[in-house]
Amino acid sequence: MADTQTSSRISPDTADGPASVPRHVAIVMDGNGRWAAARGKPRTSGHAAGARAARDAVEAARRSGIEVLTLFAFSSENWRRPRAEVRVLMDLFLRTVRKEAPELRANGIRLRFIGARDRFPEALQRGMRRAELLTAENADMDLLVAVDYGGRWDIAQAARRLAEDCAAGRLDPADIDEDRFAAAMSLAKYPAPDLFIRTGRERRLSNFLLWDLAYTEMYFSDILWPDFDAGALAAAVEWFGGRERRFGRV
Ligand code: IPE
Ligand code: IPE
Ligand code: MG
Repeated sequence: MADTQTSSRISPDTADGPASVPRHVAIVMDGNGRWAAARGKPRTSGHAAGARAARDAVEAARRSGIEVLTLFAFSSENWRRPRAEVRVLMDLFLRTVRKEAPELRANGIRLRFIGARDRFPEALQRGMRRAELLTAENADMDLLVAVDYGGRWDIAQAARRLAEDCAAGRLDPADIDEDRFAAAMSLAKYPAPDLFIRTGRERRLSNFLLWDLAYTEMYFSDILWPDFDAGALAAAVEWFGGRERRFGRV
């Protein structure tokens, strides 16, 4: 169980030896557009199918004992897409958040969004806050959805917050170390990801969790996200189970 009050950054990089079930899995859900194109459909129908796959992945993750699941849903750079596609994505986020929040609440899942969020339409920001409140008391699994998120944004916002603390006299610059910095990042309350998964054939981070992935095991799947099912997640978790994590030791 992920207790966000007590799980700390001290543990994640120290549990060496054979890995078992990853505590924290972070996924770049990529390939919706190509999935749709392969079926002669518009990219947007791929996003709808991707939202269904995300719902199934959340349920599968909870059943397999994963404590934290972070899903990359919209990057800082995805604003560069055609305006019509961005609008469809915003509508889909809002509908999905409204529809899924009660189900998440019933299933013991605590939802949180990470990312800039102030560039989203007001209604969507409200919907996100409501869904977070609705599920705030849950503790079976933490579901973090990264929206308008970029790893560089995250590092920059942490630096800004620390600088503000220094300027206000609350923090001595000499006290800024890795732990203090990590405490200002979006994942401060959670263990670092143990397993990174990217679907959809590309082998890159695309500005996902740059700080947090320092010692994460990296798994790339050729499956396009809408086809990534419980079996595919189980295969990734099984692969993770065979990794030996050394964290710099011999
Ligand atoms: C991922 O699928 C979903 C988002 C980035 C919102 P893509 O839309 O990137 O699908 P491809 O990579 O073009 O196939
Ligand atoms: C990464 O996918 C972002 C999300 C899955 C939300 P992209 O499709 O945007 O990444 P690039 O453009 O191929 O690097
Ligand atoms: Mg893509």
